[in-house]
Amino acid sequence: MRGLPAVHPEFMLEPAFDQFGSGREAIGLGQPRKRGLDTRHGTVLSLEDISVSFDGFKALNALTLYIGVGELRCIIGPNGAGKTTMMDVITGKTRPDTGSAFFGDTLDLTRLSEFQIAQAGIGRKFQKPTVFEALTVFENLELALKTDKSVWASLGARLSDEQRARIDQVLSTVRLQSLASRQAGLLSHGQKQFLEIAMLLLQEPQLLLLDEPVAGMTDAETEFTAELFKGLAGSHSLMVVEHDMGFVGSIADHVTVLHQGSVLAEGSLAQVQANEQVVEVYLGR
Ligand SMILES: Nc1ncnc2c1ncn2[C@@H]1O[C@H](COP(=O)(O)OP(=O)(O)OP(=O)(O)O)[C@@H](O)[C@H]1O
Ligand SMILES: [Mg+2]
Repeated sequence: MRGLPAVHPEFMLEPAFDQFGSGREAIGLGQPRKRGLDTRHGTVLSLEDISVSFDGFKALNALTLYIGVGELRCIIGPNGAGKTTMMDVITGKTRPDTGSAFFGDTLDLTRLSEFQIAQAGIGRKFQKPTVFEALTVFENLELALKTDKSVWASLGARLSDEQRARIDQVLSTVRLQSLASRQAGLLSHGQKQFLEIAMLLLQEPQLLLLDEPVAGMTDAETEFTAELFKGLAGSHSLMVVEHDMGFVGSIADHVTVLHQGSVLAEGSLAQVQANEQVVEVYLGR
């Protein structure tokens, strides 16, 4: 399978949509991805009145939340508040019982598959790193460039100069250049997290969802993550779920507090910290 045709990343949407056959116009199939998403109103994500029940328990309860283009939003709230469930809804893993979820102005996330949503430009990092431990850092990134990750044989396929340059660029963004040939299984927990972020960045997501990214990181790694996210904001939109308030304080200009599946408070960190209900249900614990 060596010599498989290299898929030009800008046109990676095509096979997916041939297969699933919906939402083609909405994304602007065949157009470069960056220009495909309509965000004329300045909003990259709109969740309105979203409810999700598990056996009668409302994990999300009429949740309404908007993320602006280029924004770095922190989501905080007690265990079980619905933060991860919200990310599941955005990425198509969980379907809401009611409500609407739009990526940009026109892309209805409730009608797309998880795969289509990822292809449309929403990248998600789970708490636990999911890198390929047996492969090197560079090989992990090579795989992340491919449309179909099951094509293991395509690892041997030659990279274009442009692809190689992009890998080098993300390696430097996450400061892993010197570890490119190291087996990913030998990386520290934090380095694996950075590798996974690099893999996400190669997919050129417009919106990044990061669930507890600094959990288990050293102080230095947490500091670098803050710097990294602040650098990504602007050219990307980020939604970061974190319990580490020091970290939240170092990156957030806008914070949303979730509680019992709804927004309890929203504003600057100082504003939500001064909110009595927020102190009661979360910060004061
Ligand atoms: N698949 C599921 N089936 C049943 N209940 C679920 C499921 N997923 C989540 N829940 C429940 O929904 C509620 C919200 O969970 P969620 O994981 O979204 O919270 P969270 O805000 O991410 O919490 P944490 O800070 O602990 O990660 C919890 O009570 C959880 O037990
Ligand atoms: Mg969670």
